[in-house]
Amino acid sequence: MGETPVSHWKGFIVAGLKDASRTCYCGEPRSSDVGKSVVLKGWAHNRRDHGGLIFIDLRDRTGLCQVVLNPSTMDPEHFEQAHALRSEYVLAVRGQVAPRLEGTVNPNLATGEIEVNVSEFEVLNTSRPVPFRLDEYGNVTEEVRLRYRFLDLRRAEMQRNVVLRAQAMRAAREYLDRAGFLEIDTPILNKSTPEGARDMLVPSRLNPGTFYALPQSPQLFKQILMVAGYDKYYQIAKCFRDEDFRADRQLEFTQIDLEMSFVRPEDVQTAVEGIIANIYRMTLGVELETPFERISHADAALRYGSDKPDLRFGLEIQDLTPLLREGGCSFKVFNSILDSGGAVRAFRVPGGGRMYSTTQLKPEGDLNKVARANGAGGMAWFRVEEPSDEAPGGLASNIAKFFTPELLAGMRETMQGEPGDLILFVADKPAVAAAALGQLRLRVARDNDLIDTSRPRFCWVTDFPYFAYNDKEKCWEPEHHPFTMMVDEDVERVRAGQFEDIRSMSYDLVLDGVELGSGSIRIHRQDIQALVFKTLGIADEQARIKFGFLLDALQYGAPPHGGFAIGFDRLIMLMAGEKSIRDVIPFPKTQTGACLMSSAPSPVTPEQLDEVGLELAETDEK
Ligand code: AMO
Repeated sequence: MGETPVSHWKGFIVAGLKDASRTCYCGEPRSSDVGKSVVLKGWAHNRRDHGGLIFIDLRDRTGLCQVVLNPSTMDPEHFEQAHALRSEYVLAVRGQVAPRLEGTVNPNLATGEIEVNVSEFEVLNTSRPVPFRLDEYGNVTEEVRLRYRFLDLRRAEMQRNVVLRAQAMRAAREYLDRAGFLEIDTPILNKSTPEGARDMLVPSRLNPGTFYALPQSPQLFKQILMVAGYDKYYQIAKCFRDEDFRADRQLEFTQIDLEMSFVRPEDVQTAVEGIIANIYRMTLGVELETPFERISHADAALRYGSDKPDLRFGLEIQDLTPLLREGGCSFKVFNSILDSGGAVRAFRVPGGGRMYSTTQLKPEGDLNKVARANGAGGMAWFRVEEPSDEAPGGLASNIAKFFTPELLAGMRETMQGEPGDLILFVADKPAVAAAALGQLRLRVARDNDLIDTSRPRFCWVTDFPYFAYNDKEKCWEPEHHPFTMMVDEDVERVRAGQFEDIRSMSYDLVLDGVELGSGSIRIHRQDIQALVFKTLGIADEQARIKFGFLLDALQYGAPPHGGFAIGFDRLIMLMAGEKSIRDVIPFPKTQTGACLMSSAPSPVTPEQLDEVGLELAETDEK
């Protein structure tokens, strides 16, 4: 011992080991390797210095391995140096794999049955004390995590998410390549062609006063690729939208984007199901059942009060309007709503009588607040009981006196109420009643842990209306982007100026109540595309300026085509069980669109502005 004195290289400790090659990752040694000599490299995750013995959990992206520094199995001079080791130092160690003593085996660790008895080590780099512990970050604000993202990404949870993301991308590519899709990239610097959200603009230096727009999606380019004959395109595409912040939205996000020629909606849906099934299979080892359930837009609104229905729990909404129209109700609120074409809808909460007290159901209670926040005047309720004087027809409520016992019995029967159940009602315009009950349904399920999280629930939402009326702006707007085709028979009705009940050829994919993606069969005829632009109030000249290249291309033998885009970040968020897409995007932006690590966006110099011919307007904030 003592033949390899401690030296220093660039100021770092070299305790016997110098420039050794790594033999395996930290997460790899097992009991079958006992006796082998290994060289591990990684970060000191934590260290327990017991004076006579030092334990370090050495970490790399595959996991942790306990390494033991012991003066009796290594050069004592080297051992003395090891007292200087600190958390997050970067180390190389050579040692022998040994079984852990009985009672010290860690069943939670893949390497938990062994440890490595270190003979030599080298400090490859030191670290300042970290601003938060990587294994105890519960109280760390997201701001701090994003500021030190390079440390945050070292955490096991973040590594798991980033690895899942990488594996999912590979699984998507693997399926698409096998299914004969071509990966074709499209430009990032584009013409500004509004697609729904605000464009992100980039000034052109070579053409002062003009701007590129970053793509909101590769929509028009993938359609042009179909015109050019590249049937079956895909791309893992970066998209940019200057949208308001939400937990499932980013300014910059990723889509698995695809387009196919000569297809019906089912063909596109089958391809999307194939991608998703392959991702689940190759990453989580889960076999999904395909085809996914299909539900029409109208049915989703009626039964789930949402165009992104969460099917992981029951609480299905029922329409009581026809029953109430038969008479027997003297409740003015309901009657005036029914007279003005409104609807009375409800859902039953099995056993809900015990879940909510009458105080909680009062107008100032939480459930009523949910109904009001979604535009309804409020919420009514009935408790299901055995029929009695207090509960004629088997329903009891503060408003029961306004209903005949026969009507109450009919409502109970329609709702299939059993004693102990609670029925929640909203009466309003059909769309408002749907939205309010849809949110109430979610609230009740969350409050009472009714959501079955054991398996993902996918569904296709189909048969969207082409146009939706915008009450605020008093105009008709397309539900999807304006390149979507309508059902053939409805084209003439649009030509005749009818916008109500026009059937769109679009479809959304929903997972656990989150919109995961959307797509459609596209317009491939120039005359129909021009008609849709005109319908949307885009004058011919404007359409030529904005979409001239598409209108041109459609005149040169454009094939029928359709496609889809999966919101990749949202998919990974749901697969990883995270609540925010920021936790599955390696370098996300904050609510205000900032990257806290690099401080983007940031001011530029007057010279840079000059070069692109821009001058900043004076602002009040200085
Ligand atoms: P759409 O605009 O519906 O369709 O987008 C498809 C999917 O992308 C995801 N997504 C987002 N994810 C994170 N942050 C955002 N800001 C964001 N915006 C959208 C959603 C959404 O369902 N070109 C069409 C697709 C097509 O028709 O082929 C399109 O982009 O999961």
